[in-house]
Amino acid sequence: MDHALIRKVRLFDDIDALSHAAALKLVESIANSSVPTFSIALSGGSTPERLYRLLAGDYAREIPWHRVHLFWGDERFVPPDDPASNYRMVRHALLDSITIPPKNVHPINTETDDAATSAALYARTLREQFGDDLPRFDLNILGMGDDGHTASLFPGGAYLENNDDSLVTVTQAPVAPHTRISLTMPVLCNARTTIFLVAGQKKHPVLKEILDDPNGSHGRYPAAMVEPRGDGELLWMVDQSAMMG
Ligand code: 6PG
Repeated sequence: MDHALIRKVRLFDDIDALSHAAALKLVESIANSSVPTFSIALSGGSTPERLYRLLAGDYAREIPWHRVHLFWGDERFVPPDDPASNYRMVRHALLDSITIPPKNVHPINTETDDAATSAALYARTLREQFGDDLPRFDLNILGMGDDGHTASLFPGGAYLENNDDSLVTVTQAPVAPHTRISLTMPVLCNARTTIFLVAGQKKHPVLKEILDDPNGSHGRYPAAMVEPRGDGELLWMVDQSAMMG
């Protein structure tokens, strides 16, 4: 398959410059959108935390939070107050500092008997918000692990074949916390705008492969498989250390 996808790449000196640019991109995307509510799928991990703090601080007054709905691209199957929780990270970095209607915040419920139940509940949440069509986020913020994973979709995962129409899946991460809940690849590929935030030297080898060899890397790395359908925009926002090694 020829992946003629044009990946737009913007290079920044460091994660602070990258995060400010990502915040501006988010402000502009919301301002330019004609939809009544603007849906964002948030990434976990450490890279986006600076962005979230900027959205809670410098840029908070430029965002009509009453129009914004926040979702999570993935979650670790831990309690919401666990230090490893992506929800907890976003709560501390963003939610505790902004005024957003609680009904606009859609965390993945991990206070269930098992991860499969959490995944099923989140799929129901998505259908309630997006109807029976494949969910289409206005903005999908993604990170990339140094193994090329994104959200909680890891290289070699059978779920990458995604022969069914599941929206949310349970995966096992190579590092603790092992059990994760993640949006599936079809959902990740359906966003209007997808932004990858990649920073740090350890990301360089895989990032270089993906940008230099889109076809070859497409089969190896979930991050390379995110190819927005149709008119979807894909933007890689990377810092010098990730790009140059
Ligand atoms: C998670 C994220 C994950 C993250 C990458 C990069 O739950 O950890 O969703 O996909 O984006 O692992 O993580 P860092 O930003 O910490 O390098």
